[in-house]
Amino acid sequence: MADQNGSGQLMRGKICLVTGATSGIGAVTARELARMGATVVLVARNAAKGAATAEHIRVTTGNSAVDVLLADLTSQRQIRQLADEFMGRYEHLHVLVNNAGAVYEQRQESVDGIELTLALNHLSYFMLTNLLQDRLLASAPARVVNVSSDAHRMATLNFDDLQARRKYRAFRAYSQSKLANILFTIELAERLHGTGVTANALHPGLVASGFGQNNSGFINLLFGTLLRPFSRTAEQGAKTAIYLASSPEVADTTGQYFTDKRPISPSAAARDRGAARRLWEGSEALTSLAVPVPG
Ligand SMILES: NC(=O)c1ccc[n+]([C@@H]2O[C@H](COP(=O)([O-])OP(=O)(O)OC[C@H]3O[C@@H](n4cnc5c(N)ncnc54)[C@H](OP(=O)(O)O)[C@@H]3O)[C@@H](O)[C@H]2O)c1
Repeated sequence: MADQNGSGQLMRGKICLVTGATSGIGAVTARELARMGATVVLVARNAAKGAATAEHIRVTTGNSAVDVLLADLTSQRQIRQLADEFMGRYEHLHVLVNNAGAVYEQRQESVDGIELTLALNHLSYFMLTNLLQDRLLASAPARVVNVSSDAHRMATLNFDDLQARRKYRAFRAYSQSKLANILFTIELAERLHGTGVTANALHPGLVASGFGQNNSGFINLLFGTLLRPFSRTAEQGAKTAIYLASSPEVADTTGQYFTDKRPISPSAAARDRGAARRLWEGSEALTSLAVPVPG
């Protein structure tokens, strides 16, 4: 089935894994990659929601190659299980879209005792990508697409209190995690240089989605009501993720930050190579992963 943009079966033969695929930007990204002929694997934390999203994608795109894997991405054990299950089912991974993310009004900790924003928004990207590194390398050309945010511009990484134990502010924790997405992307691109696996990050714009709705107070009101008139649709918000996942125009582009399908400069803090390396080492320690440098 041809897609609305005329990109036909551009992704035929490609296997794509999309996290946060049951709502908002991730759901549209997964659907449009399926429409382009890809085999799409949705990561969901809720089995019924995952099954319903997969069925909706099959029906609307005519592509039956839509699979679901379950994981709560705040749990390191479940992320490892997810990676193992994926590798058990698929020999290749051509596109990994790290998209699942949230903001939490109150400070919470994951089952691993890690502040929840950091655990979900950054460490799940870091872990899943690195656990699947061999599949990506074996599938080159392959792409990693990390959904970040322009909220990163408000942040610097506080390495002395990365998990906000001393003082928690929801938006500070969120913007730091989105800064971490870009630092991770740039470091990953550097490490994968010359392997045929690219890594890029993006800002989707302000998007009317389920974002913020896991909270009951002001954040729920802000994203669910107050900001809605200024928000774009999930379809509009997903365009850059879909572009980075599929367009031949960016086949060789790596280590960049995009918005509206164009590379833009992220903040100075996001271009700090020392911070990127320090974050990588800190993330390895927090996840008990020692990631081999390819090649
Ligand atoms: N919306 C915006 O204005 C905006 C702006 C800039 C950047 N972003 C970024 O865009 C990305 C997607 O957000 P969205 O706007 O599409 O939000 P959304 O509609 O709330 O979707 C978030 C997705 O992440 C999943 N998720 C949340 N917690 C999870 C967990 N513990 N384990 C596994 N999956 C989990 C959700 O699953 P459920 O369906 O089960 O809840 C959902 O599929 C995020 O990284 C966000 O930071 C959003």
